[in-house]
Amino acid sequence: MLKNQKPQELKAWQKLQKNSIYDKRTLKIRFYEDSERFSKYHVNWDGILFDFSKNHMGSETFSLFQELLEEAGVREAIMQQQSGEKINVTEDRAVLHTALRNMSDKPIFVDGKDVMPGVKASWAQLATFSNEVRSGAWKGYTGKRIKHVVNIGIGGSDLGPRMVINALKPFQTEEMTFHFVANVDGADLHEILKKVDPETTLFIVASKTFTTQETMTNANSAKSWFLENGGQDADVARHFVAVSTNADGVAEFGIDTENMFGFWDWVGGRYSVWSSIGLPVVLSIGFQGFQEFLNGAHAMDNHVAEADWNENIPALMAVLGIWYRNFQNAPSHAILPYDQYLDKFAAYFQQGDMESNGKYVDRAGNRVNYPTGPIIWGEPGTNGQHAFYQLIHQGTDLIPSDFIAAKNCQHSLRDHHPILMANFIAQTEALMKGKSRTEVEIEMRQAGISENEVDKIAPYRVFEGNRPTNSIVLDEVNPYHLGQLVAAYEHKIFIQGFIWNIFSYDQWGVELGKVLAKTVFNELNGGPAHDHDSSTLALINYLKK
Ligand code: F6P
Repeated sequence: MLKNQKPQELKAWQKLQKNSIYDKRTLKIRFYEDSERFSKYHVNWDGILFDFSKNHMGSETFSLFQELLEEAGVREAIMQQQSGEKINVTEDRAVLHTALRNMSDKPIFVDGKDVMPGVKASWAQLATFSNEVRSGAWKGYTGKRIKHVVNIGIGGSDLGPRMVINALKPFQTEEMTFHFVANVDGADLHEILKKVDPETTLFIVASKTFTTQETMTNANSAKSWFLENGGQDADVARHFVAVSTNADGVAEFGIDTENMFGFWDWVGGRYSVWSSIGLPVVLSIGFQGFQEFLNGAHAMDNHVAEADWNENIPALMAVLGIWYRNFQNAPSHAILPYDQYLDKFAAYFQQGDMESNGKYVDRAGNRVNYPTGPIIWGEPGTNGQHAFYQLIHQGTDLIPSDFIAAKNCQHSLRDHHPILMANFIAQTEALMKGKSRTEVEIEMRQAGISENEVDKIAPYRVFEGNRPTNSIVLDEVNPYHLGQLVAAYEHKIFIQGFIWNIFSYDQWGVELGKVLAKTVFNELNGGPAHDHDSSTLALINYLKK
């Protein structure tokens, strides 16, 4: 069990509190005073450059970060997680997505049983099935190969494979097209069904619980569509497979459990892309590619467990996030990939982070009196520059941001990459340096603008700067480096949740809405009225009409 400790009682936390008040030097001054700043505050490890020098910290804060990690017992917590302890206390489960990418020979025990033989058996099942489908040996009911794969799932059963498939498009087979249906809004499925045909489509119904309303509704509609458009009951097995932990639910739905890819309750939905939930990824890039993805993550698992704090990428990301959230009042954190293939990365970690650390009850069951998980958001650059960056540059909130880029691009339009990279670097520089009133005035005068106009407009053209950023540069976005990157964020989330003294692996906060939706649904369908407030009641009646 992870220990229960109030972060404010940690000495390092208290020291950081003081440090945040008296060391207010701006980033610009810090860089000016210390020409070695970059060399002190970056990590270059295994194809990843992590530059955290553009952050509000000096050597004292940096030592306090390390003191905090040490005093909190983060090293031990990581061990507890990776060795299969039931750290998800409120659901009485271990948290072992790291076992899914355990490439070592080390056994990992849950309730006295090594989970690795099961993990390896699932790899074998994924490898065999994906080989059959990719090679065309797996035929649809009219003898044609599979050309379309439709993943039906939501949350972790959607965002993970969706994000990875997008990120690894350059590695994707050309034989198949991949589609994702998540929303219970029929428009989502409707639009996909227009693009596929029953003879060549494989539906993957992905749901850990196999009870999720959205997924079950979409799966049932997809099955009806299949049966109404030429497929027979006996053909369902060639066109529907399931990924779930719920064999009974799968059988009840009508999918042969022979065609079921299992995983375990110790895999959280938002951490499940490493399991059979990654099936679309395996079909897309092949099992070897998938293993590379797992290899990258495994390397990061070792890195977080073993690297010293001053060069431990996820641990540094975690304490920097805590620094801004708890000591500098930053309500949100932006993830800004300068790589179009990573266009779903921020959305993916919106769930990963916010469903994990959006909690106000601590590990002792008490309400916390400090902020926990920030709002996570972001879009790829350079698009965001022409949309919301205004607020990052000149808004009233501090928004620490992660800039993610790849040294080498994966396409042939070579001229574009230096432009993209120039924008990424320029943004981090602009956010850090800003532009002073004097600089603005000189610039305006040089442009021949009148003194009157300079006086009037100059304040709006000033950038305070001093906006912190991390820069994460991968050698390239390939399966291995993507695995490292995703695992780094996962560990960051865990370390933050651990220090915040919350349980990061449950998600009770999503339950109430689900229950109420059932009640409202019945009422919309003419069922007995329940006691509601006037707004809820009026909305029900309005839509009933
Ligand atoms: O409602 C939230 C949630 O439980 C997520 O945690 C999960 O990723 C998603 O729903 C989908 O759940 P399932 O895979 O069981 O359908």
